[in-house]
Amino acid sequence: MNTQTRPDAMERIVNLAKRRGLVVPSAEIYDSPGAIYDFGPPGVLLKNNIKAAWWRRFVQGREDVVPIESAVITRREVLAASGHEASFTDPLVECRICHQRFRADEEIPPADHAHDLTEPKSFNLMFKTALGATEEGAALAYLRPETAQGMFTNFRTILDTARMKVPFGMAQIGKSFRNEITTGKWLFRLREFEIAEIEYFVRPGEDEAWFERWVGEWETFFTDLGLAPARLRRFEHPPETLAHYSKRTVDLQYEFPYGWSELAGIANRTDYDLRRHQEFSARDLTYFDEGENRKYHPYVIEPTMGIERAMLAFLVDAYREYPGGRTQRSETRESEAVLHLHPRLAPITAAVLPLVRRERLPEIARQITGELRAVWFVEYDEAGSIGRRYRRHDEIGTPWCITVDSQTQQDGTVTVRDRDSMAQDRVPRQDLREYIGQKLEAGSPTRTDAPAR
Ligand code: GAP
Repeated sequence: MNTQTRPDAMERIVNLAKRRGLVVPSAEIYDSPGAIYDFGPPGVLLKNNIKAAWWRRFVQGREDVVPIESAVITRREVLAASGHEASFTDPLVECRICHQRFRADEEIPPADHAHDLTEPKSFNLMFKTALGATEEGAALAYLRPETAQGMFTNFRTILDTARMKVPFGMAQIGKSFRNEITTGKWLFRLREFEIAEIEYFVRPGEDEAWFERWVGEWETFFTDLGLAPARLRRFEHPPETLAHYSKRTVDLQYEFPYGWSELAGIANRTDYDLRRHQEFSARDLTYFDEGENRKYHPYVIEPTMGIERAMLAFLVDAYREYPGGRTQRSETRESEAVLHLHPRLAPITAAVLPLVRRERLPEIARQITGELRAVWFVEYDEAGSIGRRYRRHDEIGTPWCITVDSQTQQDGTVTVRDRDSMAQDRVPRQDLREYIGQKLEAGSPTRTDAPAR
């Protein structure tokens, strides 16, 4: 199979995403505010599939993890107690001439800005807002920068209502907000994004063993969904880069087209958050351990990941370009793009294509689409030649194209074409659900070569 590696892979994926309406700059008709994006139909579906895979694995599939959803607007007191008001900062420098701002610890300002920079000062990344109808009476609040705090402030409630025993976890997926100084790199660093994280409460002393287990769990989430293990590695934070709450943090880094960067992380937050909230709220946030007959503040292991960052990694990993097309028969010999996404992540699970627009084939194809739509996202597509339709669906990662032809009229079978191998199976129409269902459960994408980069 002939593929090409390209240094401009990121740009090509951004273009594909724009062309197919996966991701677009927010409110672009007014000029985008920067690092805020909207998601069109395939983008929403891909994001939802990532979240569903996460939810199924870490919440639905485990007795020791319960779901919660806490509010985005967060009282100042919460983020004062958590230390974010004082410490959730990045060092900022400003060019005195053009007033452009840079992150002093990460971004090296371009040469034409390096001559006259201010001294670094701490810039808090949280978005402020006000609670209350009058300006005088309004109380300062923040849009949460992480979902974690809602799990600590609900610790007592969950203990009392869900009757959980240590070790147990709370899981949440939700919007988080950070007024990042420097952005760019598309979905990598956003100002509004979703975090999926677990606060896993354990006995002090058992935290280190649980930490190791969660690093492994987090890693296999990505590799089981097809991410190339060779492009994933662990990065142990040195003490100077640990967050203010962390005793130990391991990042899972992915080799993005611009280099190795954090994809997800696992932190040992110790009993820092529960102690601080107990101190600031004067509520008892200890846990009574019946087995040990003592009270303590559990330690917290926190595996976390950004949904859009995961989406970026899955897209980069799945994207291939085939110069001249994938088959000798390709009509145009144009370059073809394929998203070899794991079938469970693919925005559209199957497309149903009538071979021609006559002989009742569209009608049958629409019936099949309706039947399968009860279970998965399935699209009906009759526009253009069959080869063109295959390519359109390859480009957006649809794992199976179901073609209805004149034989369908005679014996009730359809052709199912596999996106990765391009092999075609003849399947009785009534077996489609089982056929696709089995493949989805087993499924991992077939890719024989390195991602385009
Ligand atoms: N509660 C812990 C926490 O928030 P974090 O490493 O600051 O940890 C969690 O963020 C995850 O969110 C990161 O591993 C990354 O995947 C993602 N993330 C962080 N900042 C982001 C940003 N500005 N844009 C997109 N994703 C981001």
